[in-house]
Amino acid sequence: MAVLGIESSAHTFGAGIVEDGSVKANEMLMFPITDKGIIPARVSEFHVKNAKRVIESAFEKAGMALQDIDAIGYTKGPGLGPCLNIGCIAAKTLALSRGIGIFPVNHAVAHIEIVKKLNSFADPLTLYVSGGNSQIIAIDEKPFRHYRPYGETFDIGIGNMLDSFARKAGLKPAWGSTVAKIALNGSYIQMPYTVKGMDFTFTGLLTNALKLVGKARVGDIAYSLQETSFSMLCEATERALMLTGKGELSVCGGVAQSSRLREMLGSVAKEHSIKFGFAPNEYNADNGAMIALVAEKMMRTGRASAIRDCGINQRYRIEDFVVTWE
Ligand code: FE2
Repeated sequence: MAVLGIESSAHTFGAGIVEDGSVKANEMLMFPITDKGIIPARVSEFHVKNAKRVIESAFEKAGMALQDIDAIGYTKGPGLGPCLNIGCIAAKTLALSRGIGIFPVNHAVAHIEIVKKLNSFADPLTLYVSGGNSQIIAIDEKPFRHYRPYGETFDIGIGNMLDSFARKAGLKPAWGSTVAKIALNGSYIQMPYTVKGMDFTFTGLLTNALKLVGKARVGDIAYSLQETSFSMLCEATERALMLTGKGELSVCGGVAQSSRLREMLGSVAKEHSIKFGFAPNEYNADNGAMIALVAEKMMRTGRASAIRDCGINQRYRIEDFVVTWE
């Protein structure tokens, strides 16, 4: 059984192919980041221009053609409306042309599932950290089987916080990884630290860091911003671990590419004698393979697939997605 997955929720257009649970292709093209940031209308034009090329390249990589595919998955949300629409239209067009099933996938569920698969985890607690998201998530059975956020940011996602700092401090794109680079030899400056139970906030920390620009070494600010925000995430995650009693911890999403964050979470896991896992970077970035993986699970567990129900939802919450598989 082979499934094509299409991802277009933000600046990346991705097409992946999964066959019987294993990834055959994972092709992607990212809108070039400039000082202007992400303008949804411009990014959606980029997706329109590149969709065919990326999808064709996925087929070529997998050594397959459209007629070899049994179903198509696409990102329903959350994400930027104009960008989500392009992936949705591409998926519907291909599904209609072949008369095969189409499955709308929750983007956050896909990020969690690909890391779970690559680490052979059964039931992890996951820290999902990207531009717009920062959540601590695990499976819950009531009132139906779903991924429940145990804690999350009250304001902005950690990735957007690091990007905003870097942009306003005059650093070069890609901002988050630039912060990581200049933080390497920094010294710690005291910063506001806000964790409430398993939730946290980042705007106070960002404002404080921006006030220091011009008064302290930018490397020291970057180091302190990163250490403080990552410590907040680790504290909240540790609390969720103790509450849920899970034996596996994973990290996913764009910010999971940070080796420092992985190191800190790894020590939390070690402290609790549990397993810790993450994915290679191509699967932390937004990608089509993770969408295909979830679509295949949906198809295998008998989820209905009706093209009239296939739209987008910019604010698609992870807890609203019914998990039908183990
Ligand atoms: Fe993502």
